[in-house]
Amino acid sequence: MTPQNGEKDPKEHIDVLLKERRLYKPSAAFQKKAHIAGHARLQALRKKAARSPERFWAEAARELRWIKPWKRTLDWKPPFARWFVGGKLNVSVNCLDRHLDGPRRNKAAIIWEGEPGETRTLTYQQLHGEVCRFANVLKGLGVRSGDRVAIYMPMVPEAAVAMLACARIGAAHSVIFAGFSSDALRDRINDAQAKAVVTADGLYRRGSVLKLKEAVDAAVESCPSVRSVVVLRRTGTEVSWRQGRDLWWHEAMAAAAAQCPPAALDSEHPLFILYTSGSTGKPKGVLHTMGGYLTQVALTTKWIFDLKDEDVFWCTADVGWVTGHSYVVYGPLANGATTLMYEGGPLHPAPDRFWSMVARHRVSVFYTAPTAIRTFMRLGDEWPAKHDLSSLRLLGSVGEPINPEAWLWYHDNIGGGRCPIVDTWWQTETGAVMISPLPGATSAKPGSATLPLPGIEADVVDRQGRPVPPGHGGYLVVKKPWPSMLRTIYGDPKRYEQQYFSQIPGIYFTGDGARRDKDGYFWILGRIDDVLNVSGHRLSTMEIESALVSHPAVAESAVVGRPDEIHGQAVTAFVTLKGGRAPSPALAEELREHVGKTIGAIAKPKDIRFTEGLPKTRSGKIMRRLLREIAAGQGVKGDVTTLEDLGVLSKLQAEDEE
Ligand code: WT7
Repeated sequence: MTPQNGEKDPKEHIDVLLKERRLYKPSAAFQKKAHIAGHARLQALRKKAARSPERFWAEAARELRWIKPWKRTLDWKPPFARWFVGGKLNVSVNCLDRHLDGPRRNKAAIIWEGEPGETRTLTYQQLHGEVCRFANVLKGLGVRSGDRVAIYMPMVPEAAVAMLACARIGAAHSVIFAGFSSDALRDRINDAQAKAVVTADGLYRRGSVLKLKEAVDAAVESCPSVRSVVVLRRTGTEVSWRQGRDLWWHEAMAAAAAQCPPAALDSEHPLFILYTSGSTGKPKGVLHTMGGYLTQVALTTKWIFDLKDEDVFWCTADVGWVTGHSYVVYGPLANGATTLMYEGGPLHPAPDRFWSMVARHRVSVFYTAPTAIRTFMRLGDEWPAKHDLSSLRLLGSVGEPINPEAWLWYHDNIGGGRCPIVDTWWQTETGAVMISPLPGATSAKPGSATLPLPGIEADVVDRQGRPVPPGHGGYLVVKKPWPSMLRTIYGDPKRYEQQYFSQIPGIYFTGDGARRDKDGYFWILGRIDDVLNVSGHRLSTMEIESALVSHPAVAESAVVGRPDEIHGQAVTAFVTLKGGRAPSPALAEELREHVGKTIGAIAKPKDIRFTEGLPKTRSGKIMRRLLREIAAGQGVKGDVTTLEDLGVLSKLQAEDEE
């Protein structure tokens, strides 16, 4: 199979891979101390897990504290799974209370650094107190078990406090990335029917203040479900105030008790909803539940990041993305680890901000995205070289395929040649890592996420679901349910089934293309649907298209991705204008701003190309493959006013497309 996105010539991939035959074996020193040490031990675990995945996961789940044991490990009525059926637990107890009876009580749970440079440390005891207080605040606002709470916050400890407080009382949180616009926020609040919104006056980004409360005010205007808005004072920015609806975080917290008994919640009780892009305009509310999610998140954090009590773990993701949920908050805290949170931009005030932080906080395990690594690579070796990075012992990568060149740069310039790299493949939907090396046991190949974890059965198949031979491209699928899998799309079980389980009945369809090499290693080729991956964030082409068409000048648009060295993919928009509107650089800029306002800055097209018509098949389908080729063909800087007659192209090519 050739990958459906048409952007990646599989032959080109294979050429690159041939050069990367090198195997990076875990060093003896690393192996000696690793949780999972040595290839033989991992093989034994794999074998055991393959014999009975359920027994394997049940053993992992027993590492958590349960209020009531489960009766059945798995109830699988495809496509709906229930894990640890009948069991009761509380996620916040597992992340906090159970660390309080031992030496971890006074250990740093969260070390935080704000963009302006201030730092704060919360011990497990202190974090526990804050979470209990905020849980009481929520209760006081009438939030009950089963309700939804929207969280639209900067990267500050209070974001984690709000999440854990929801978990404590059984309200599902829906964290909305603070870079999303008020329109996007409104849609997500309404889809989940959130009762309360937790936000801040503003946040610091690249030295300036972004006004969050203002965006919330505009959104909540059209959100009848919202009764309360809790506002953290972060920047001191002036805010407008709706009496009876709005309350200050610090005032509410001062009045709240520091004891809050944890709710005993069903293993399948909702923990959170997280919206992600699908191939239609409407974002999908991916629903995760308590017991299974925490089991797999806790285990993967321990094994893949090899966390020990003395580590400082820094996952650079924002809590607005799933990586921030699983590996900034829940995974590290469930393991009693120290997690570092950073508020601001990676290049602020200078391109060595990250490396200065690694040195100052003595970070030992560092987890970031290929897009960041490529940016740093381009900025030059001198920035990391300025700092003492000797505290690092393990590096991670997530969000998109990491090209071997970036892998090697990361390995040499950040890891000093001594740190293993874990390239972790997973998705919002999978909840936790699925394919990854274990750093003390797996030999890495730069650019490959290597092998599925024990207990995970992934494969590469053709359209009929038949495994494809080594070296051939196909669809990446997961053949058996896993504990942290999404349970449904919130409010839309039909779409859940259609989206993930209809291509090959009963088998989870990831939407990624992949191939395996002769050693069984997985090489991810990227998305095969109409979803772009920009800087490790999934964006829907449809969503950007509908944002463009909502502008009065636009008649029609088609959005495609083109390869981008730094960001993986860049958004290219082909736009036809309504009669009487003429293309101009000013209009192109206006459209970019319009998309920024409607969805968020991350979705702003890099290129806007005005065209008189879009190439379509006779049945009216836009020929995206063709547009992708055109988009990839040439840089169009300054070329935005050119009118392209793509209609002609369509006439020429429509035949072979149908
Ligand atoms: C998509 C999921 C999972 C957290 C971040 C993104 C791509 C993710 C890798 C990797 C190659 C990767 C896939 C996947 N992806 N990790 N290690 N190698 N591709 O979460 O927004 O749900 O995106 O990101 O295409 O389907 P997400």
